Amino acid sequence: MHYTFDIERGNFTDAGRASSSVKRTLKHLGVDPANIKRTVVALFEAEINAIAHAYGGTIDVDIDEGKIVMVVADHGPGIPNIDLAMQEGWSTASPQVREMGYGAGMGLPNIKKNTDELKIDTQVGVGTTVTMTVYFA
Ligand SMILES: Nc1ncnc2c1ncn2[C@@H]1O[C@H](COP(=O)(O)OP(=O)(O)OP(=O)(O)O)[C@@H](O)[C@H]1O
Ligand SMILES: [Mg+2]
Repeated sequence: MHYTFDIERGNFTDAGRASSSVKRTLKHLGVDPANIKRTVVALFEAEINAIAHAYGGTIDVDIDEGKIVMVVADHGPGIPNIDLAMQEGWSTASPQVREMGYGAGMGLPNIKKNTDELKIDTQVGVGTTVTMTVYFA
């Protein structure tokens, strides 16, 4: 099964749409709650990052027997230093983003913890693609 979602620039209100939809689908498929939770946490954080730090983009989700692959691709500034970005508590979130309750610098570390595979492809000045895989087995 393949699903695509748009991530609209600056649209925090709509954030979480993809992760909610994926949650419903995985429930229907009978995936166990612990793996649903891991998947949804990771996708939500990646979705928010594409809105908070970039200018939106697209989400592609593939669900197969036993696994889900989620690709969140944005247009934006890219991540100049991925090692720094992966550190707990490191954030460049703007004051406006912090007012909305984001910017603790925990999103990427949480994605790492909750996925089985994580790949970040980024090009400064162009954008970032985050590929996350969770195995249900
Ligand atoms: N899609 C992205 N485009 C550009 N920079 C990003 C992107 N995702 C993350 N970053 C950079 O990596 C930093 C760390 O991201 P992370 O998700 O861990 O924390 P945060 O988004 O700042 O805060 P939190 O996720 O806790 O609300 C961000 O502050 C930002 O500098
Ligand atoms: Mg974040």
